[in-house]
Amino acid sequence: MTVIDELDTIEAEAALALNAVADLGGLAEWKSSYIGKTGALTRLSRGLGALPADQRPEVGRRVNALREQLEGAYTTAEARLKRAAQDAELAAERLDVTMPGRAPALGHIHLTNQVLRQVQDIFAEMGFQVTESPEVELDEYNFSLLNFADDHPARDMQDTFYVEVPEGTPSVLLRTHTSPGQMRVMRERAPEPLRILLPGKVYRNEQVTVRSEMMFHQFEFLAVGRNITMGDMKGTLAYFAERMYGPNTQVRLRPSFFPFTEPSAEMDVSCFLCEGKGCRICKHSGWLEIGGCGMVHPNVLRNGGYDPELFSGFAGGFGPERIALLKYGIDDIRGFYSGSIAFVEQFG
Ligand code: DAH
Repeated sequence: MTVIDELDTIEAEAALALNAVADLGGLAEWKSSYIGKTGALTRLSRGLGALPADQRPEVGRRVNALREQLEGAYTTAEARLKRAAQDAELAAERLDVTMPGRAPALGHIHLTNQVLRQVQDIFAEMGFQVTESPEVELDEYNFSLLNFADDHPARDMQDTFYVEVPEGTPSVLLRTHTSPGQMRVMRERAPEPLRILLPGKVYRNEQVTVRSEMMFHQFEFLAVGRNITMGDMKGTLAYFAERMYGPNTQVRLRPSFFPFTEPSAEMDVSCFLCEGKGCRICKHSGWLEIGGCGMVHPNVLRNGGYDPELFSGFAGGFGPERIALLKYGIDDIRGFYSGSIAFVEQFG
């Protein structure tokens, strides 16, 4: 085979191989096999010295021409492959700016707080001021000062979470009701007349069931002043019930007992679902039990710094979860605090 034939072969093979090159890595290999230091053309040109002198100029020109041709082909292919690589990169980063955005997941007020806010608004309309008192409370405030006898069953370890305290220091507990807040407010403000609403968490050491949780909420209302009567309490509760449950809601007080009130009552409202006709929620009685209330016991007034000969008052403690359970026909209280988003989201 003559040198010219060899050059023709290199030219043909290089053209074929270049067609098969798919990326810049392949192109670099192609370059080194044909025009690199050990490439086919470079190797061939090194042998030119051995040719007869009359052939050298001709072959030399062919070699140079082919080198230029291959270098040109390399430059063109490199530009094409670089562009293709860039295009692929851009295609991978492509964004459809016309696509609708993803709606952010928004939270909302928890059902319990929705009810508490509504309650606060209603009581505020009647001049009740919202305030708070400690969840970790002295035994004395939770029980004794509220006129609980020393052997009252509510003091039982079964019902109350006690806090460990050093021996010889006063007994501390997680409040079992919001009523100790009454005592704190009275002691702070006596002998001012009071209209107070105390919302907050309470704790009971009870078996968790569909009806009872270890932690739930209450709101306590307290009015103290001169000449406050049970009629004032009834009017206050009737207004609350109408604003909470609708204008035709009836209120009923049933005699009851609490150590801190005398007389004491349970307040019922006419069932807002069946309007008193009887349904599943009111257990066909036409009435819903809302919570306890009564006239503040003279001992409690006295402990709070008010002379029961001059002052009287009414108080009550209701549960917002119970209000919500009834309102929405929820039959398992555990949904409120189990952390189930599915439960909570129903009440956005
Ligand atoms: N503290 C009572 C309870 O937790 C509720 C209650 C009843 C509060 C009567 C009062 C009241 O202020 O007068 O069951």
